[in-house]
Amino acid sequence: MKVTIYGSGYVGLVTGACLAQVGNEVLCVDIDAAKIDRLRQGESPIYEPGLTEMIRENLTTGRLQFTLDPAEGVAHGLFQFIAVGTPPDEDGSADLQHVLAVAESIGEHLSDYRIIVNKSTVPVGTADRVRGQVQHILDERDSNAQFDVVSNPEFLKEGAAIEDFMRPDRIVVGTDNPRTTELLRALYTPFNRNHDRILAMDIRSAELTKYAANSLLATKISFMNELSNIAERLGADIEHVRVGIGSDPRIGYQFIYPGAGYGGSCFPKDVRALERTALDNDYTPELLRAVEAVNFRQKRKLFDKISTHYQGQLRGKTFALWGLAFKPNTDDMREASSRVLIEALWEQGATVRAFDPQASKETARIYGSRDDLVLCDCAEEALQGADALAVMTEWNLFRSPNFDLIRSSLKEPVIFDGRNLYEPNFLLKQGFTYYSIGREVLRPKP
Ligand SMILES: NC(=O)c1ccc[n+]([C@@H]2O[C@H](COP(=O)([O-])OP(=O)(O)OC[C@H]3O[C@@H](n4cnc5c(N)ncnc54)[C@H](O)[C@@H]3O)[C@@H](O)[C@H]2O)c1
Repeated sequence: MKVTIYGSGYVGLVTGACLAQVGNEVLCVDIDAAKIDRLRQGESPIYEPGLTEMIRENLTTGRLQFTLDPAEGVAHGLFQFIAVGTPPDEDGSADLQHVLAVAESIGEHLSDYRIIVNKSTVPVGTADRVRGQVQHILDERDSNAQFDVVSNPEFLKEGAAIEDFMRPDRIVVGTDNPRTTELLRALYTPFNRNHDRILAMDIRSAELTKYAANSLLATKISFMNELSNIAERLGADIEHVRVGIGSDPRIGYQFIYPGAGYGGSCFPKDVRALERTALDNDYTPELLRAVEAVNFRQKRKLFDKISTHYQGQLRGKTFALWGLAFKPNTDDMREASSRVLIEALWEQGATVRAFDPQASKETARIYGSRDDLVLCDCAEEALQGADALAVMTEWNLFRSPNFDLIRSSLKEPVIFDGRNLYEPNFLLKQGFTYYSIGREVLRPKP
């Protein structure tokens, strides 16, 4: 089948590469000329495991192509996927300018029947706005070209995006035309083996399903973080509490890890956007507000611990920072908790020596070159001459480090762990003062 995808970011590229991989002819359209150039040369602009190889393979066979020209895009695919960004607007609502710009260019070039499939995360009612925009332009052009609009939200996780796309746990298809459901079912057949994962529903429910999923996951995290703060005050260990509740199948072990707050391009903006939608519809979403407020506070948690340890005297101190990306296996720094820590440390006059296996380039792009940021090539280099170590992303690489080396490299054997990677008593035996989330601070006896 022929597929056009607007937006070559985390979602668009993965969708494009996976659809090409199973034999479709995919044309990806983007407005970023540098990105399209790199992609044409087989270079992925983002880090996602397995993606570069898949892009290269499908470029070679010609099943995956890239263009800046929306007219070419509209001419190419029966399916016109929209996978552009929907960043938060100033009031927290989703900014739909990119989605509507794509709708506009589809309207300008549409002649044969097309199915517009919205994969971007968009507020309820956006499919109607896309339909209205395309129709408005067709009317202006005096064209009676036909099209349908479908909502097909994406549930992939960065870091495991290809696996998630290839083996989805659900494929939500919101449509008001049963024929389009069947055409999408055909497109998704290679990813829908073993048992049927297509969940067909009305468009508005499909749009809301995506926000519901992300908001519930964010709620689980904020709930655990709230509990971790209570546990700290009560002398309980949140990690024991975690396994204690996770063993209940109604609760489950997934997504109940306490930590330094959630970041990324989805949870923060989607919780805010759903809150905004609720407010715009005369409903005060108390729970969503609390989820957001708890997370805001939690992202500063490690800084607060550092500041308390040093009694607010951070000027001239240097901190080794392991982990910059908002989670492992990605280079995505959008709303990463590490940024809150770095910026708070800078504000107090401290220097950061940071290492991340993938996100250093993105960090350099965001912050530019500055004296109080040293981006290191390996975890060990970050430790050199630092006062203490802070861990912000749970990359596997950081799980079992050489503690002797850490101790001998740091000026003081102190670890601030924002992801509870280490066993407190083991670290105590190794001579470290160990701060983690939702657990008592352990200090070696003088
Ligand atoms: N990143 C994720 O993990 C994830 C998961 C599920 C859903 N989503 C949703 O998918 C959407 C895309 O997210 P992303 O992370 O891939 O975004 P991204 O920022 O990585 O990529 C968006 C791309 O769209 C391009 N673009 C903007 N306007 C365009 C236009 N008019 N025509 C063509 N291309 C255009 C940009 O240049 C950019 O390359 C968002 O709504 C997001 O909420 C993201």
